[in-house]
This record gives sequence, C-alpha cells and structure tokens, in this order.
Amino acid sequence: MPHDLAGQTALVTGATAGIGRATALALAARGADLIVHGRDERRAADALRRLADLGAKARFEPADLSDPAQVNALAERAGRVDILINNAGIFHFARTADTTPAAFDAHIAVNLRAPYLLVQALAPGMAARGHGAVVNVSSGAARTPGLGSGVYGATKAALESLTRVWAAEYGPAGVRVNAVASGPTRTEGTAVHGEAFESAGRAVALQRLADPEEIAGAIAFMASADASYVNGATLDAMGGLPALG
Ligand SMILES: NC(=O)c1ccc[n+]([C@@H]2O[C@H](COP(=O)([O-])OP(=O)(O)OC[C@H]3O[C@@H](n4cnc5c(N)ncnc54)[C@H](OP(=O)(O)O)[C@@H]3O)[C@@H](O)[C@H]2O)c1
Repeated sequence: MPHDLAGQTALVTGATAGIGRATALALAARGADLIVHGRDERRAADALRRLADLGAKARFEPADLSDPAQVNALAERAGRVDILINNAGIFHFARTADTTPAAFDAHIAVNLRAPYLLVQALAPGMAARGHGAVVNVSSGAARTPGLGSGVYGATKAALESLTRVWAAEYGPAGVRVNAVASGPTRTEGTAVHGEAFESAGRAVALQRLADPEEIAGAIAFMASADASYVNGATLDAMGGLPALG
C-alpha cells in the first residue's frame, strides 16, 4: 500500500462503525493521521485500537451530528483537516404515509446539514492551503426508487448535487470534492435487517452484499492522489445493475 497520504489529517464522520471505520483504516494504511468521529465511546475505543495496530496516529472526537452546534464545535476541535469524509448517515426506512416530521428532520439534519456545515467550516482552510479532498458517502437510493427509502434517498441525491456545487466552488483552489455511492453493505447499521437485507445483495449484478472494506477502498481512492483529476464525480460502488429481461 503506498504511503501517499503521509502527513495528511483525515476526519471521518461515523468512523466508529461500518463503512466509516473501514475507511479510517484504509486511509491510515495509506499513511494518514485520523480523527475518528462518532458518538459511541466503546465503538470508538475499538476503532482506535485497530488504528493503533496499523501504527496510525488517531484520536476520537465525539459529536451528535443532529445538533448543528455540535457539528460546528467538531469542526473547530478538528483543526487542520486535509481530507474530510462525510460518511455518517442514518437510514430509517418508512413509506411516505408513515414518515413522521421528526424522522424527516433527522435525516435532513444528519445526512445533509451536517456535511454541509462541515464543508462550510473546513473547506476554506483546505482552499487557503491549496489542497484538500472531500468525499461524500452516498447511496444507490439517491437514484433508484425504493419503497421506504424516499427521504433517505432524497438526502443522498441532495448530497450528490452539493458534491458537484462544492467541486465547482473549491476546485479553483485545488480542493477536490467527490462522492462514492455505496451499494448494500454488511455493517452494524444494516445488521438489524437480517435475511431481508441479503436479498438486496442478490439484486445487484455481483449477486452479493458488499463488505465495508470494498466501499472504503473506493472512498480512499477518491481521497488519494490517484484521483487527482477527479472532481465533482460520483463513483458507483454498487455491484453493478442487473440487466432487465
Ligand atoms: N450499509 C449500507 O448498505 C449502505 C448503503 C449505501 C449507503 N450507505 C451509507 O454509508 C454510510 C455509512 O453507513 P453504515 O452502514 O456504515 O452505517 P452504520 O453501521 O449504521 O454506522 C453509522 C455511523 O454513523 C455514526 N452516526 C450515526 N448517526 C449519528 C449522529 N446523529 N451523530 C454522530 N454520528 C452518527 C455512528 O456513530 P455511533 O455508532 O458512534 O453513534 C456510526 O459510526 C451512511 O452515510 C449510509 O447512508 C450505507
């Protein structure tokens, strides 16, 4: 693994579980220093242990991303950030008739407003230093209609839209902003769906669920110099669409 991210500091939101933790480990393997974000201290300690095993420099910064004051405080405590991975997200599926205003607001706050505030707070510093990378974690639900994933998919579609806007805003200063759209992946968050979720894996061309490391690889690529001319793009790590017929 190339140590191409040595000397760079990466903030990964939701790095205490699933795709975020795998991404923190993938970035550490490329030499980055890590700021592990999440809420759960036990999960954070486990992530820090795994990072220490790789010899990575890492620290935990907790914040509830549904609270804008905590998001801004997180950005302040983070200090210099060269790589921002907007990974933390919630997905509480319900059809439109069953979606409460509170559930609607929670998705917007965590999946959309928090990445927005973090980019607002951290991208100017990257721009001033003349380099930086932001990767937003999206989902197939951004473009594929799913019964019950309406509000969730809408937040991810908006995040992909903002990805293109931020790429245009900060690109001239050398800051790249991209997204990775994940397919169905085995994580702590999806474990609750059990066998029903396995069928989501059978619905993609590869005919299986992803492991978090497979999404993390795509995210780390987008953050790395290997993607130095990729800006405003959404990379599908979705196992491929099956053909009709
Ligand atoms: N898994 C999939 O199949 C899939 C598919 C497409 C897209 N995605 C996207 O990939 C990302 C990660 O998904 P995942 O499956 O890895 O999730 P996960 O296993 O449920 O882990 C979620 C992470 O986000 C953090 N988090 C959640 N709500 C938070 C809040 N209000 N404040 C602070 N941190 C919060 C959690 O922190 P704590 O546990 O410490 O509280 C945890 O680290 C999400 O954006 C999701 O939408 C996932």
